[in-house]
Amino acid sequence: HGTSTINEKGHLTIGGCDVTALKAEFGTPLYIVDEALIRERARQYTDAFKASGLNFQVAYASKAFCVMAMCCIAEEEGLSLDVVSDGELYTALQAGFPAHRIHFHGNNKTPDEIAMALDANIGCFVVDNFFELHILNDMAKERGVSVKILLRVTPGVEAHTHEYISTGQTDSKFGFDIGNGTALEAIKQAQDAEGLELLGVHSHIGSQIFEVEGFQMAVARVAAFAADVKQQFGIEFTVVNLGGGFGIRYIEGDTPLHVSEYVKAITDAVKTNFSAIYNALPEIWVEPGRSIVGDAGTTLYSVGSIKDIPGVRKYVAVDGGMTDNPRPALYESQYEAVLANRAAEEPAEVVSIAGKCCESGDMLIWDVNLPRVNHDDLLAVSCTGAYNYAMASNYNRIRKPAVVFVKDGQSDLVVKRESHDNIIGNDVIPARLAKQE
Ligand code: LLP
Repeated sequence: HGTSTINEKGHLTIGGCDVTALKAEFGTPLYIVDEALIRERARQYTDAFKASGLNFQVAYASKAFCVMAMCCIAEEEGLSLDVVSDGELYTALQAGFPAHRIHFHGNNKTPDEIAMALDANIGCFVVDNFFELHILNDMAKERGVSVKILLRVTPGVEAHTHEYISTGQTDSKFGFDIGNGTALEAIKQAQDAEGLELLGVHSHIGSQIFEVEGFQMAVARVAAFAADVKQQFGIEFTVVNLGGGFGIRYIEGDTPLHVSEYVKAITDAVKTNFSAIYNALPEIWVEPGRSIVGDAGTTLYSVGSIKDIPGVRKYVAVDGGMTDNPRPALYESQYEAVLANRAAEEPAEVVSIAGKCCESGDMLIWDVNLPRVNHDDLLAVSCTGAYNYAMASNYNRIRKPAVVFVKDGQSDLVVKRESHDNIIGNDVIPARLAKQE
């Protein structure tokens, strides 16, 4: 998919770059990111919204993959940016991302983070709870400014997805519940808050969602809530943010919709539900993360040791694992892989791909069909663009891989491979423990 092909040498190429050459230049493990595919996905969103005729913002959920080069691409493609921490905010600002297009999320923003975002004059805070509502209002008043906010509500919709990543249901750490009156109370307090300018509400129902029904249901609930708000407080939302969660295809059998189908379902639902209660339709914001970057990423590994247990299983170990991709261990996520240096060869055996961490759960793929695998072969695991580098760790003090963007035969390093000195960079040996010279 994307710009990947197999060249005359039988090597996988991505963005016009032979991955064996990428290995020679950058080493493995290596995150390879197909820049053209990211841009294509971004345009699918903006084109679909333009076709809807509604006013919109597509905010890339940077949590999926937040590095400065990615912020530059999001900026060039006209996206807004959803950040959830001072680290993501700092990355975006340092990359020159326009502050007024940054939306700040999170269920426990610290006063320091809020101050940093206020200093930067970001576009909008997505307020999650009463504590935040109060400190944000106080800090805004102290500075004599008015801060644009959305209130995050839980519409009570539970997406059909892995339970750890469902956030739309009532029993959630996020947001104000629509069902029990909490959200109405939050509207009242936001309206009374002199330092806050209420734009509207936000809802996010989960991640890796394949159907449109959940989104349609969320729109209907939010619209019903908007009708209550209008009746009780006489206000109409100017913005409704429907979050992210649009699914992608990781493996054969995954059945995501085309980006335009998700957008059409949402915008149609907005038109139907809101035209019944509002004179002017609200601006619609969405926050796709995975569906912008997920399938643009490929992780390239070198094969090391191979353990064959006859009649049981063949373990093929690679030079990375749960440190660069914790998703299989965390969520039992499934991935596909190809032998990148012999990509045209027919499958000859079923093997399991193991990582190098001291942990039995460090398995990337159980049972994958590959040509006969040898030491030093290159394994390419696809669809690793989202929540891989972003969730990478230094467990076992393993260094994080480099990230390269590839496009039109050109490869650009966007994150350097970590060094050993990076690993010990923040370590301090107290004087009483230091070895005497
Ligand atoms: N907006 C909000 C408020 C979110 O909480 C999320 C994801 C998104 C947008 C973006 O969702 P996406 O379009 O990427 O599905 N680490 C998990 C995914 C956690 C998603 C958390 N929130 C994983 O690796 O599957």
